[in-house]
Amino acid sequence: MLKGKSLIDPMDFSKEELEEIFALADKIIENPREYAHAADGKILATLFYEPSTRTRFSFEAAMLRLGGKVIGFSEPNSTSVSKGETIADTIRIVSCYADIVAMRHPKEGAPKIASMYSEIPVINAGDGGHQHPTQTLTDLLTISKIKGKLSNLTIGMCGDLKFGRTVHSLIKALSRYENNKIILISPDELKVPDYIKKGILDKNNIEYEEVKRIEDVIESLDVLYMTRVQKERFFNEEDYIRLKDSYILDKNKLSKAKDDMIILHPLPRVNEISYDIDSDKRACYFKQAKFGMYVRMALMAKLMGVL
Ligand code: CP
Repeated sequence: MLKGKSLIDPMDFSKEELEEIFALADKIIENPREYAHAADGKILATLFYEPSTRTRFSFEAAMLRLGGKVIGFSEPNSTSVSKGETIADTIRIVSCYADIVAMRHPKEGAPKIASMYSEIPVINAGDGGHQHPTQTLTDLLTISKIKGKLSNLTIGMCGDLKFGRTVHSLIKALSRYENNKIILISPDELKVPDYIKKGILDKNNIEYEEVKRIEDVIESLDVLYMTRVQKERFFNEEDYIRLKDSYILDKNKLSKAKDDMIILHPLPRVNEISYDIDSDKRACYFKQAKFGMYVRMALMAKLMGVL
């Protein structure tokens, strides 16, 4: 039963509950008009303490396409946060006005705190370098729709695996599906943190390896999940400048990949995928962003108990 639940961590929902959300997302994709009034009278609050394009707009578009309305902010300085109001108080107030909340925050754990004080479901829309569970729903739906399965895949994750919350969440979620192999492609400085390696990969006996070059592994991949080196997570600019161009996927590197490999990216990209790859049939990142809206429609409908 998903009604009334919050989504803070990708493991908050069982595999069966995820299947329920994906099944509804499929139906919405097939016939969006049928769901155009499912959330009539409902209000989504988007509390974005950190910049976003895809996540905020896809949440807002999702609610509008369900017939609901949206309130919120993308600039916390325009609210009483700038006067020192705590997350606990902000969420208590928002609970009086809205039916569901999507919150992005630069501090790890902030949406969890919000969910502890909220009267309505809270969805973590990305917390610092920690988790991004609705991006993971997007990624799983995309893989499942294009590859037809979430098991028996070799998945390469490339770029900033240290601070990349989308990677952390995706590894967690994939650990529940059988026989996947994960190849972690990063420079030494941006490797996946130990709490993910020991706590998720080792604990669940997931086969994985760590490598430094895309060229060495690309031919074995079914999915290549590219990520951006995130300037905003670095403590000093020198380190960022040294590492920012570590990985650039271009036609030459892609020439070794399987014909049916798919390239995903949570976006935004900076320069890690060359623009001339966008027209390659394996480039699925824009399709992925669109699936993100449909899966958020399904998620909110389930958490609000309207479908
Ligand atoms: N994928 C993602 O979270 O993008 P935004 O930061 O634009 O929301």
